Amino acid sequence: MVNAYWLDFNRLHSADYVFRLTQDAAAFTSGIVDDIPSFLSSAVKFAASFCVLAYYQPMIAVFTFVFGPIAFFITRFYSKKIKRTYQMIKEYDSEINEKLQENFQNLPIIKVFHLEELSSNTIENIYHQRKNLIIKNAILNNIMNIIRALFSWGGYFLAYSVGILGIYNGTISLGVIVIFLQLFNQIQQPMAELAGSIPKMLAFYTSAERLVELEKLNSECDSHCIEIPSILSIEMVNVNFSYPGRENQLTNINLRADAGNIVLIMGKSGSGKTTLIRLILSLIKPDQGEIIFYDGQNNPVKANAGNRQWITYVPQGNSLFSGTIADNIRYGNPSATDEEIISALTFAQAWDFVSTLRDGINSVIKERGVGISEGQAQRIAIARALVHKAPAIIFDEVTSGLDAETEKCIMETMKRDFKHKTLIVITHREAVKEYADKIYRMHHGSLIQE
Ligand SMILES: Nc1ncnc2c1ncn2[C@@H]1O[C@H](COP(=O)(O)OP(=O)(O)OP(=O)(O)O)[C@@H](O)[C@H]1O
Ligand SMILES: [Mg+2]
Repeated sequence: MVNAYWLDFNRLHSADYVFRLTQDAAAFTSGIVDDIPSFLSSAVKFAASFCVLAYYQPMIAVFTFVFGPIAFFITRFYSKKIKRTYQMIKEYDSEINEKLQENFQNLPIIKVFHLEELSSNTIENIYHQRKNLIIKNAILNNIMNIIRALFSWGGYFLAYSVGILGIYNGTISLGVIVIFLQLFNQIQQPMAELAGSIPKMLAFYTSAERLVELEKLNSECDSHCIEIPSILSIEMVNVNFSYPGRENQLTNINLRADAGNIVLIMGKSGSGKTTLIRLILSLIKPDQGEIIFYDGQNNPVKANAGNRQWITYVPQGNSLFSGTIADNIRYGNPSATDEEIISALTFAQAWDFVSTLRDGINSVIKERGVGISEGQAQRIAIARALVHKAPAIIFDEVTSGLDAETEKCIMETMKRDFKHKTLIVITHREAVKEYADKIYRMHHGSLIQE
């Protein structure tokens, strides 16, 4: 799943992925371990008893099962409905997970806007619809079982009557009827078990389908990584891109970030700056045009999922994981030593506050950076990017949460101590211009060099 193409991955809600990978995977596993073996064992028991009966008296065996195909065709209609309700119940389950996750994550918004009642009503409403579906499902299952039972007992009485008639005519011996009465239970019980396992099999099938959908996500190709070069230039040549269902979002983009340069990208909110970065990182593919990386020997290589490691990246917004500060920074380089982490924190102007924490770099950050400020989270994210030894760095509005002085210190450090790194900075701050070797402005989907 982590190899899925980013735009495809975004089609489902993250809570839906979690639900599928936990609940559906558990239902699938119990189907494989419990339901399918017991279905097969009932089928074998049924077939064996049927064969024994057919051996002694084929006619009685046929009459016992004569209604089987009819019951099968009638209940097929119900099976389809039951399968659909199972799918809808799963969709509601995912929706409940999605709403709960979003409500918990945005608890301050819910409190500030007094959305407590609305939020619980929305979730209650989904639970209510789910409950109705479960009742509908239980009714359908019961109707299906009653139809099966009726046809099964109908077969029994028909076969029994044929047997009695046979004794009367002298065509069937009493011994065969005794065998029939003995074997009937052996046929009836597995038949009931088979009927009872059908809803479980339908639920199993629904979960399996939902997991197979995940398998169908398009994977990124070219995900092998070539050795990281010491310096890197980045070029975009006549690149066009639009998100699915949108038009002319980025048109004819030409950009060159030479090794060791600081390149600024400015422009209005929503003009396409982050989209341009996603293109450079091969998270999305250009509709037209090319993105080329040049290494120290000026060898051109097309940007792809494999060589995105040549660039380190600090995204817009909070991108921290729950865990310690050191854990978070080691996402940039798992083998980073404590000294390297402290040095990266110092460059990112974060060591001042981390060193005052009781546990220093081993202080725990909770989910989505709870426990530290937005600006502190951004500086830890910068430190994480710095321990990843890549020749190019991209900052997507990372200094927006910082005061002017801290921002100045970070930019000065970058210019002074990271001379050989190519730095692409997206910013709205005019003050950053003084550190730039080149400035581009994004305007109505076009990139203009100032
Ligand atoms: N995943 C997506 N699917 C569809 N459209 C998107 C997606 N992400 C962004 N867009 C749209 O693409 C356009 C450019 O978005 P982008 O995030 O690149 O803007 P931006 O310049 O980075 O804005 P900001 O300064 O607010 O971060 C916007 O109109 C946005 O609505
Ligand atoms: Mg953006």
